[in-house]
Amino acid sequence: MNEQIIALFEQHPDQFLSGEQLSEKLNCSRTAIWKHIEILRQQGYMFEAVPRRGYRLIGRPEKLDIPSLKSMLATKTLGRTIHYVDEIDSTQTLAHQFAEQGAEEGHLVIAERQTAGRGRMGRRWHSPKGKGIWMSLLLRPRVPLHFTPQLTLLAAVALCRAIRQTVKVEAGIKWPNDLLIDGKKISGILLETSAEDERLRYIVAGIGITANLEPEHFPEELRDVATSLRIESGQPVDREVLISSFLQQFEELYELYHEQGFAPIRLLWEALSVSLHRRIRCQKGGEYVEGYAESIDDSGALSVVLHSGERIKVYSGEVEL
Ligand code: BTN
Repeated sequence: MNEQIIALFEQHPDQFLSGEQLSEKLNCSRTAIWKHIEILRQQGYMFEAVPRRGYRLIGRPEKLDIPSLKSMLATKTLGRTIHYVDEIDSTQTLAHQFAEQGAEEGHLVIAERQTAGRGRMGRRWHSPKGKGIWMSLLLRPRVPLHFTPQLTLLAAVALCRAIRQTVKVEAGIKWPNDLLIDGKKISGILLETSAEDERLRYIVAGIGITANLEPEHFPEELRDVATSLRIESGQPVDREVLISSFLQQFEELYELYHEQGFAPIRLLWEALSVSLHRRIRCQKGGEYVEGYAESIDDSGALSVVLHSGERIKVYSGEVEL
């Protein structure tokens, strides 16, 4: 149905088509047309809606310019091979397949749209077409499996620095690796590992950035908690520039990490964090507790001092600011 609606607008460029015309041509109700127009909006299509005239298609989802991205890249390994797809269930799944087939470190999968994007803690990740950056990076770090959370924090630092540098907005990191602007989420990172006998085989680092989403591209339930770089900066984001900057930042920090360990990454993370040295709410044994977020340790865990004076470590889950 969505394709048929777009095809009708393509056949009538720059013209208004009323709900009635569309429903007659596609043999469905006007409510069904309205619902599909909303879905198409979330996929990155833009419609002007005028009472009694109907809808006019005024914008299509944009496409990433991969040759231009490649020409910007100055990295040694990260992003040297890019696999770009228009639509996929999740870039994570495809990156895992490449990893199993022996793809090299740095292999990058990018999609314009994900139909089943994965978030942390089993959540779905909303990934409309042409508006965001939905990508998965294959890593083969030479570290023990239990060091993986450190790389999660490293990824957040790399992304935060890239966003600050290229988009010029004050993004901060909420533990462990959400990026926020003024309390609203603009990016999420999901690290998935493959291990054998406690030995780390590879990591797929999934990065989602709501680069160019407009308010109407967010489903209702996300509008209060999420925003985009475009909304916050008031400017369209050059996705190729941001991806290339992220890969550059990541590669530099990754080299530093392999040379000097987690200590310098931890300092950088702390400097960019918005969840340290303040009151937070977090989960302990399935219950919510409040306390003061004091520091992170070498395993990436958050150290929280509860009202009772007890000091606890939070290893996973969500914190509320
Ligand atoms: C989070 O819950 O905050 C993590 C979200 C990670 C989303 C990205 S988008 C690209 C990659 N593919 C996925 O399915 N998920 C990650």
